Amino acid sequence: MSITTKFTEAFGVEHPIVQGGMQWVGRAELAAAVSDAGALGLITALTQPTPKDLAEEIARCRDLTDKPFGVNLTILPTINPPPYDEYRQVIVDAGIKIVETAGSNPAPHLPMFHDNGIKVLHKCTSVRHAVKAQSLGVDGISIDGFECAGHPGEDDIPGLVLIPAAAKEIEIPMIASGGFADARGLVAALALGADGINMGSRFMCTQESPIHQKVKEAIVAGSELDTELIFRPLRNTGRVASNAVSRKVVDILDEGGQFGDIADLVSGKRGAKVYETGDLDAGIWWIGTAMGLIDDIPAVGELVSRIVSDAEEIITARLAEALR
Ligand SMILES: Cc1cc2nc3c(=O)[nH]c(=O)nc-3n(C[C@H](O)[C@H](O)[C@H](O)COP(=O)(O)O)c2cc1C
Repeated sequence: MSITTKFTEAFGVEHPIVQGGMQWVGRAELAAAVSDAGALGLITALTQPTPKDLAEEIARCRDLTDKPFGVNLTILPTINPPPYDEYRQVIVDAGIKIVETAGSNPAPHLPMFHDNGIKVLHKCTSVRHAVKAQSLGVDGISIDGFECAGHPGEDDIPGLVLIPAAAKEIEIPMIASGGFADARGLVAALALGADGINMGSRFMCTQESPIHQKVKEAIVAGSELDTELIFRPLRNTGRVASNAVSRKVVDILDEGGQFGDIADLVSGKRGAKVYETGDLDAGIWWIGTAMGLIDDIPAVGELVSRIVSDAEEIITARLAEALR
């Protein structure tokens, strides 16, 4: 048995499960393992310092799996943007067929991707942005609820309402994101009107995830209460692990501090150090409330087959029995 949805059919993926882009984490090892397991693995473009490095990372991923994988292109609202057109060109030249866009309006990137037969899955955090992306012609929506790691937006609407509210408006394939970690989440997402799930935190805590073992152990030990919302006063909210640095950032901004006062604390360089060295207080590191649902560090293949087979069991046994 398998779970077939509008997403699996349109995007040519066996299981309705996506591994969302993850800065510093979404490298070839993880994306290849996820795609090899029949889900959709994504390399995170901006983790690679230059477009040339991205080309090499894509080649490395190809050596690790024969299955299709995609690339996440996060569109950052920065004054000095990375060379997006060069990253885009690398994605096209490498023959990638699926791109996850996130962060901002994907419009400038769509013509080139579509001209080259690339399907675009746009990740956003509100129904209005999902509707806008659908009208721009993206091929799928990933709707990211307040539970998520990363940037949940400023509306604070959790998936239980956000997913069915989006499902009312979205006709193209739609993936539910934020707070998903197991089969119960997948079945719930399907019931709420989505065509599959996107997971970041859960895939981050797997054997193939290229981060320090101590971070994975901290995720297993952590609960749903152990995240912090930073950058709220700047209206660029981020959900990260609660640690000495994130709590300091919250305090400084709550006391009227500006971005310049926290820039060093939140630098990407410090964040990368957490994943490299396992020093949990070296900087900001991203994790969602799904941390409370993560109790082990499985191989990706084991995780994906567990989610799919448990979901089939929930649908055919537990839910079917409830009908009697
Ligand atoms: C460590 C980490 C880094 C992330 N970096 C990015 C990123 O660079 N771009 C992006 O679009 N989403 C990023 N995300 C968000 C994920 O793609 C995904 O939307 C989110 O993790 C879903 O929520 P979940 O963690 O509850 O599964 C990141 C998530 C994590 C855990």
